[in-house]
Amino acid sequence: MANSTKYRKTNSMPDALDELPLAIDRAAPTPLSVQVATGLRAAATAGRLRGGDRLPSSRALATRLGVSRTVITAAYDQLHAEGWLSGRRGSGTYLTASPARGPRPLASAPPSRPASALLDLAAGAPCVEAIDRAAWRRAWRAAGDRIPLTRKDRAGDPEYRAAIAEHLLRHRGLGAGSDTRMLATAGASAAVGELAAALLRPGDTVAMEDPGYQRAAGAFRAAGVRVLPVPVDAAGLRVAEIPRGVAAVYCTPAHQFPLGARMPAARRVELVEFACRTGTLVIEDDYDGELRYDTAPLPLLATLGPDVVVHVGTTSKILSPVLGIGWLVGPPRVTEAVLAHREATGTGPAVAGQHVVAELARHGDLARHLRRLRREMPPRRALVTERLRGFDVRGDDAGSHVVVALASAAEEVRVVAAAARGGVLLEGLGRHHLGPRHTFGIALGYAAIGRADLPYALDVVADCLRAIGRSMVP
Ligand SMILES: Cc1ncc(COP(=O)(O)O)c(C=O)c1O
Repeated sequence: MANSTKYRKTNSMPDALDELPLAIDRAAPTPLSVQVATGLRAAATAGRLRGGDRLPSSRALATRLGVSRTVITAAYDQLHAEGWLSGRRGSGTYLTASPARGPRPLASAPPSRPASALLDLAAGAPCVEAIDRAAWRRAWRAAGDRIPLTRKDRAGDPEYRAAIAEHLLRHRGLGAGSDTRMLATAGASAAVGELAAALLRPGDTVAMEDPGYQRAAGAFRAAGVRVLPVPVDAAGLRVAEIPRGVAAVYCTPAHQFPLGARMPAARRVELVEFACRTGTLVIEDDYDGELRYDTAPLPLLATLGPDVVVHVGTTSKILSPVLGIGWLVGPPRVTEAVLAHREATGTGPAVAGQHVVAELARHGDLARHLRRLRREMPPRRALVTERLRGFDVRGDDAGSHVVVALASAAEEVRVVAAAARGGVLLEGLGRHHLGPRHTFGIALGYAAIGRADLPYALDVVADCLRAIGRSMVP
C-alpha cells in the first residue's frame, strides 16, 4: 500500500469523481460491480484519477449511478483488495498512488508495457543516477534565490557563459575566446535549428552523416533546408563524399551518432580544409564529447578551423535534458546572426537551467559530476561487452552507447519487440537513417538504466539476440 500517499481532499473540495464520466451498461452481461471497478481502475491507469484523490461515499456513488449501494461496496472492496484504494469506511476512500501488491486483474492490464515502464537501454539518455542529489537540490535552490530579471540577455546568462567557457577549456581544450564567440542555447538540437534559421535560406542544402542524428535533420528541414546524406565509415563522415554546393555540413566527430566512430585527426583536418576551400560552414555536434575514457582528446574541429566551424554542445548527456540548455561557439558572424534572429523573433534559451548549471559550476559540483560519470561509464560498458560477448558489439570506447550489429531490418524489429516483451526498451538503427536503410542493428545506451538493473536487462538482450539465431561472430 502506498502509505506515503498524501490525501488531497479537504471537506471543501469536490470528490474526485465529480468530473469523471463513469458509465455502466445494465444490458451487459458483466456484473455491475465489476463494471464500476473496471471504470475506476481504467481512470486510475489513465491518470484521470490520481493517488490521494478521494472517492465518493458508496451511498453517494450508488445514488449517482442509480444502482444499489451493495454494487458500489462490492466494487470498492475489490479495488481495496487489489491495493488501488485505501481508507476505511466512514473516514473516506482514497485512491492510492499505485496498487501496492498483488497482480492487477488481466482485464485492466495494458496489452504491452508503455515505453516508460521498460528498462531503458535506448541510446541517448543520460545517467541521472550519478547526479549528486544534494548538489542538484542546492543548485536549484540557489538558482531560485536569484532576483527575477525583467529582461533576459539573449546571448545567455553571463555567469553561465563564463562557466561554460571554463568547462570547454578544461574538458574539451576549446578556448571560446571573446564573449562574442559563445552563446547559451536551448540545447544542441535547438542550436542546429537556430543556425539553420539564422544562416541558411529555404532551398539551401546541408550534408549530414547517414545514419545520423535525425533531430538535427528535423531542425534543418523545419527551416526549409534540404538534407543530403553522407556515408560514414570507421573514421566518421566521409569528407570526399560530401555533395557539391552544400551550405553546411553537420557531424558528430567525437563519437559519431549512432555508429560510434571517433574521427581521427587526419579526417578532421581534411574536413576543415574542405570547409575553408569551399566556404562551407561545419556544425560540430559535440553532444557527448566530455565522456572520454583513457584516451587523449583529439583537437576539436572548432580549434582546427575557428572561422568555419560552429561547435555545439549540451548538458543533456552529462546532466539531464530537463535543463534544456547547451551552448554554441562560432565565428562572430555566426553568433551575431543567431543573436539577430533571436532579437527579431523574440526567442532565446530559458534562463532557469543556465542558473542551475552556473551554480553547479560555481561550487565545483559540475567538475565532480563529470569525474563521477567518467568513473561510472567504463564498468557499465565493460558489463555490456561481457554480457553480450560473442555478439557483434561495435563503437568506440566513448560516450554511453554501443551498437550491436544485425543483418537486416527484420532482425532489428524482432529483437526490439522481443526485448520489449521482456521489459527492456531498445532502439533499432532504422530510425537513424535519412533515406533507405543500409546499416542494421541496435543502438544500446547504458547510461540511463539503474546500475543494479543493467545486468538483468543485458541478459534479456542476449536472450533476444540468441532467439533470432544471431550468435557468435567469429
Ligand atoms: C547527436 C546528438 N546530438 C544532440 C542530442 C541532444 O541534445 P539536446 O537535448 O541538447 O538537443 C542527442 C541526443 O540523443 C544526440 O544524440
